[in-house]
Amino acid sequence: EDPRIHGIKNRIRVVPDFPKPGIMFQDITTLLLDHKAFKDTIDLFVERYKGRNISVVAGIEARGFIFGPPIALAIGAKFVPLRKPKKLPGEVISEKYDLEYGSDCLQMHVGAVEPADQALIVDDLVATGGTLCAAINLIERVGAQVVECACVIELPDLKGREKLSGKPLYVLMESH
Ligand code: PRP
Ligand code: MG
Repeated sequence: EDPRIHGIKNRIRVVPDFPKPGIMFQDITTLLLDHKAFKDTIDLFVERYKGRNISVVAGIEARGFIFGPPIALAIGAKFVPLRKPKKLPGEVISEKYDLEYGSDCLQMHVGAVEPADQALIVDDLVATGGTLCAAINLIERVGAQVVECACVIELPDLKGREKLSGKPLYVLMESH
């Protein structure tokens, strides 16, 4: 394991019973307060993805908007936001996904990702995998290729990885 990962892990605050009882919330805002830990996080992704022909980084609202753009800039890719409903003004395509209670939806501007694109999907955390699965579907529906999904944290007990229909998932750390 890369020695920088320990320092990153130390900067993620775990908040019990937020936003509801029984949830151990992984708070990445404390990581952002530490310049070295935040930079190490971005650098680890950039080192993995530079030179891999990735033409678009798709970031998932909201926390994928924090980690996605600096990666996109450093590897020379465009950035496309995958947003919660009714935020994007242009024509969109939508993918619903299930939550513990109810459902949510991600939307993407038509034309932002093109069939020839090679996409990296970025978010902070994978739990059940429902959110990443919706993101993968959006990219593939427009004919583009998903090279990999990248997150800072995986909650492996929730088996989100199994929902990604074989798409590679790279994470910096697991949390149990
Ligand atoms: C959290 C997290 C991931 C998603 C993972 O976002 O940031 O995006 O849940 O969960 P899953 O793997 O079970 O789908 P949330 O939907 O809470 O919204 P936010 O990022 O806008 O705060
Ligand atoms: Mg999120």
